[in-house]
Amino acid sequence: MLSPMCQYCATDGMPDDWHMVHLGSRAVGGVGIVFTEAVHCEPRGRITNYCLGLWNDHQRDSFARIAKFIKAQGAVAAIQIGHAGRKASTMRPWEGSQSLPVEQGGWEVIGPSALAFAKGFPTPSAMDAAAIDAVTESMAASARRAREAGFQIIEIHAAHGYLLHQFMSPLSNQRNDRYGGSFDNRIRFLMETIDAVRAEWPKELPLFVRLSLSDHVDGGWDLAQSIELCRRLKASGDVDLIDCSSGGNDPRQSMKIHPGYQVPYAETIRREAQIPTAAVGLIHSADMAEQILANGQADLVVLGRTLMSKPYWPLDASRSLRADTRWPIQYERSNIF
Ligand SMILES: Cc1cc2nc3c(=O)[nH]c(=O)nc-3n(C[C@H](O)[C@H](O)[C@H](O)COP(=O)(O)O)c2cc1C
Repeated sequence: MLSPMCQYCATDGMPDDWHMVHLGSRAVGGVGIVFTEAVHCEPRGRITNYCLGLWNDHQRDSFARIAKFIKAQGAVAAIQIGHAGRKASTMRPWEGSQSLPVEQGGWEVIGPSALAFAKGFPTPSAMDAAAIDAVTESMAASARRAREAGFQIIEIHAAHGYLLHQFMSPLSNQRNDRYGGSFDNRIRFLMETIDAVRAEWPKELPLFVRLSLSDHVDGGWDLAQSIELCRRLKASGDVDLIDCSSGGNDPRQSMKIHPGYQVPYAETIRREAQIPTAAVGLIHSADMAEQILANGQADLVVLGRTLMSKPYWPLDASRSLRADTRWPIQYERSNIF
């Protein structure tokens, strides 16, 4: 599976030729599930002014062209939807990733509590119940448009310190209403979002949730809470797979990064919550990918940066594992090695 990866080059949330070629070439390269980057449900939910959105039908129609091409290559077209909350309104990575002030084209950000992500980031306005409902509804509306555009899998982005994760973690959520405090209250926004998205997303199509399994900061969201959440997601019958990532909600995080660093999370959730999982994070060899699946550590192997630099990686990996490899007919004569 191609991991969702922001390209930071959309105009008014619209996918364009770059997105078509970027996603389309991974489908040509043999990726099984081609995921869009995070697609935001409302303009102020974007990380940057150049992130994708699905709050109107023009965006839907541009996505439809891309989904159609992906499917024509025999791949599955998948979309990640989300809201950046207090981490919205930033500059692009190649512009420094700092917060983008309102006077330079940024906007007021929202979050669970009036707590900034980090020094130099704006203090979000704490959302009231009506604001929470409005985001839930816009996520559901994006899900409906995603379906109309022809996507076959939807993923709710509840990781990396974005809005839903901000509500889950006690580090960013210090509310004392029904959306804060206890574990049940902190996961309520996510549970309501899943319900609302599922109501728009056909029962026969998969719904994934991407989680940060740990904040990697004492007193934050952690693996024990993730296990309990995933047991409930499994019991709900609404969620088909947990895409297991980590971190992103607190700059104090300390995590060791090495090949396959998040695979143990996928393995633990799969075992403890009895729900299918995806493993992501520095997976770059065919042997390693195969090992993760064969050892039952995860149900899906997900690649991000490896596929960015090597769009034909799946076809090469498949050949190196001596699997039945089918190059696109147009490229068949490339198979000379
Ligand atoms: C440029 C870039 C953009 C990313 N954008 C997203 C995103 O939109 N949604 C998301 O869930 N993760 C995003 N990620 C995280 C990746 O999906 C992936 O989880 C991470 O890079 C680790 O996998 P890798 O080592 O295979 O790249 C992004 C990562 C990179 C490098």
